[in-house]
Amino acid sequence: MVEFRLPKNSRIKPGKTWPRPDAKNLREFAIYRYDPDAGSNPRLDTYFVDMDACGPMVLDALLWIKNRIDPTLTLRRSCREGVCGSCAMNIGGLNTLACTKAIEELDGVIKVYPLPHLPVVKDLVPDLTTFYAQHRSIEPWLKTVTPAPASEWLQSRDDREKLDGLYECILCACCSTSCPSYWWNGERYLGPAVLLQAYRWLIDSRDEATGERLDNLEDPFRLYRCHTIMNCANTCPKGLNPAKAIAEIKKMMVERRI
Ligand code: SF4
Ligand code: SF4
Ligand code: FES
Repeated sequence: MVEFRLPKNSRIKPGKTWPRPDAKNLREFAIYRYDPDAGSNPRLDTYFVDMDACGPMVLDALLWIKNRIDPTLTLRRSCREGVCGSCAMNIGGLNTLACTKAIEELDGVIKVYPLPHLPVVKDLVPDLTTFYAQHRSIEPWLKTVTPAPASEWLQSRDDREKLDGLYECILCACCSTSCPSYWWNGERYLGPAVLLQAYRWLIDSRDEATGERLDNLEDPFRLYRCHTIMNCANTCPKGLNPAKAIAEIKKMMVERRI
């Protein structure tokens, strides 16, 4: 019988339990630690955070740990406002933003892993090189052939409204890394985040490259690996629905053939 097991060097080992602070209101965090250069397996380290001395969000706790217990803990963050997308990680089993995830919403030991199914640079930092290259491949900028107007490209209110539910995407990659189709075909399937971005440009009334953009997506893998499993919409921390955007692109493909 075929055995599906992780290679030995990627199995997660029990890690270190760091000393408990002398405080009453503690929360326990189990955090994924991995340094590819060290040559050892990933491990789960246990930390205790004094909630009376820490802010309310998971990012606050991670920075509290980094500043007060273990400066080697590595993570990305910038805005701490749910705007930059850099603190995306898997918290309590769900891909989300550490800066907008409240600790009180999580029960028991809070488990924190990097976004799944991506190579790990270190600890909670995933390698997003392929994700960004895929985003670049859909040419996420306004493409026009008519000469630029003297001041700005105008858009009616109705056309502007068509971008609602799309422009809010912060490219955090929570959706793509929750998508089973992207897990198995991440090199060839563009994934929900990039396809939502592709649709954002396809329906922008000012853009004049719709046909070319659709040609670029007409491929058995780049677009058609979405099987409407909906993990993407369930996990998006901005409440967006990439699966709907993908369905709209497929509809545009059909309509242009008629
Ligand atoms: S659609 Fe949502 S989950 Fe996906 S990249 Fe955009 S903001 Fe993140
Ligand atoms: S709906 Fe499509 S893009 Fe979203 S998780 Fe499912 S397969 Fe992936
Ligand atoms: S730090 Fe920017 S989204 Fe969390």
